[in-house]
Amino acid sequence: MEQDRALNVAIVGGGPGCKAIMDIIFAEKLSQLYMKLIGVACTNPNAVGYRYAQEKGIYTTSSFRDLYKLKELDMIIELTGRNEVADEISVTKPSHIRLIDHVAARLFWDIFQIEEKRIAERTRAEQELRESREQLRELSAHLQAARVEERTIVARKVHDDLGQTLIALKMDLCSLEKGLHKDQEILIQQAKSMKKLIDMTIQSVKRIYSGLRPFLLDELGLNAAIEWMSQRFQDHTGITCELAFSRDDILLEENLVTNLFRIFQEALTNAGCHANATKVKVRLEEKAGALVLTVTDNGKGITDEQVSDPKSFGLMAIKERVRVLGGNVKISGIKNKGTTVTVSIPMGK
Ligand SMILES: Nc1ncnc2c1ncn2[C@@H]1O[C@H](COP(=O)(O)OP(=O)(O)OP(=O)(O)O)[C@@H](O)[C@H]1O
Ligand SMILES: [Mg+2]
Repeated sequence: MEQDRALNVAIVGGGPGCKAIMDIIFAEKLSQLYMKLIGVACTNPNAVGYRYAQEKGIYTTSSFRDLYKLKELDMIIELTGRNEVADEISVTKPSHIRLIDHVAARLFWDIFQIEEKRIAERTRAEQELRESREQLRELSAHLQAARVEERTIVARKVHDDLGQTLIALKMDLCSLEKGLHKDQEILIQQAKSMKKLIDMTIQSVKRIYSGLRPFLLDELGLNAAIEWMSQRFQDHTGITCELAFSRDDILLEENLVTNLFRIFQEALTNAGCHANATKVKVRLEEKAGALVLTVTDNGKGITDEQVSDPKSFGLMAIKERVRVLGGNVKISGIKNKGTTVTVSIPMGK
């Protein structure tokens, strides 16, 4: 037999065994099986395998001797289950045709079945493994989400309770300081160092909550965060806050939002601390592709010296943030009329 062509096979006995082999061949389960079925012989024309062969256009005959005439037939598989048929084929077939009888075929069949079962079991085990991996993944995602949620709660608590209390404390200290007489030198120094201490604590609180999560901003959006902060400011200082937003909250870059909010916070705190104001107006609007924040108070008015004083660290911080964001800032005061802080940040990118 040549190697470069398929093994030509004929089956004698068109029962269920024959059908099963054809199923395997046509389902291409054994794709490496280099075998071609070219004939089926069966005395019962109604046998299931025999009819299947006819359907598939394979040569069929009632007498196995007809198979001998098939061109290039290499092998006969006898599946009648009857020894006398196997014996008869064995003595009548041309010598170049090899024979596998039903006993040998049965053995192959059993091996095949065992292999099939093994594959099915492996597939099932793999499926189970995939499922349990998926469950693990879901569990870990759930735990991760729970962690984030927990951190958010802690972050908010730190911000709301600690952060705001500290800012309020600082503002109280400011007015206390103002009430002191010039010659109460020691007390003035004490108030100054207390302010420093509060600032340091505010910084560390900021570090904690920004490490946990940039608090409410990403949940609320800038408008709502400004609103919320103004409300607290008003409640605490008794200074009226007027808000005007020219647009609804849209998704802004996180860095922009955080910085703008910090700027707002500083301007508002200053108005509460230094201005002796009764009213603060806050505007947030979009102008020619820039986000413009304006905080105006009706207090005593900042002086040009104070604006340009390098020791004005709060104002320096505002300028630095604006510089990083590539925007403009203007801080100006009119004596006994008030102070205005205007910050304009391009939104282009
Ligand atoms: N809205 C305002 N009205 C009047 N004066 C102001 C106003 N804002 C700031 N100033 C003056 O400018 C100074 C500098 O402000 P800046 O915010 O830099 O410092 P600060 O508020 O005193 O301290 P901190 O570093 O805590 O902010 C203030 O001390 C205050 O005298
Ligand atoms: Mg300040």
